[in-house]
Amino acid sequence: MSHPAQIAVLGSGNGSNFQSLQEAIEQGKLHARIIFVASDNPHARILQRAQKKAIPTHILKCKQNSSLFDLRTQQTLASTLANIGIDYLCLAGFMRLVKAPLLDAFPQRIINIHPSLLPAYPGLEAWTQALQGGASLTGCTVHFVDAGMDTGEIIAQRQVPVLPQDTPESLHARIQEAEHLLYPEALQSLIHRNS
Ligand code: GRF
Repeated sequence: MSHPAQIAVLGSGNGSNFQSLQEAIEQGKLHARIIFVASDNPHARILQRAQKKAIPTHILKCKQNSSLFDLRTQQTLASTLANIGIDYLCLAGFMRLVKAPLLDAFPQRIINIHPSLLPAYPGLEAWTQALQGGASLTGCTVHFVDAGMDTGEIIAQRQVPVLPQDTPESLHARIQEAEHLLYPEALQSLIHRNS
């Protein structure tokens, strides 16, 4: 069998999708190894979750009150990731836009999970957008990352119905359950396709 795909994860917050990838690996459903986790937020729970699994973590140098992802920081990160030999970079709740230094270093190797059926509802709080838009169906999407906001080629999607009694919180929680199934499945299919 080929060696496990080497994965880095970037996240800004809770890290439940990181956790779902790590658990799928431990359960033998995902032929990969997470070898690096980085965050732009020193207090992000994703860092604590990674440390519990003894995965090396890194805090990115980013301005805290801006959404900019400094190009020099992206260049440094791209060099670090190339040096440690990652195969895929997985964004999981990472709140800054990735640009050329990273995109050019890992073409078709950077993926993201988004809480809607793209191209519907890109951007922030996609579950609130779905409720406000009167959607009866939403879901989540794993897609390649390009220079736009949630515009890259779609890899896989999973549907989630919107229920009449849904609040933004209940809908988001149900979408997250679907995300935790979809992300490991989509990554495994990509690894298989490229192997
Ligand atoms: C997820 O809903 C994901 O779709 C979006 O950000 C959220 C991250 O959640 N991009 P978590 O940090 O993985 O728990």
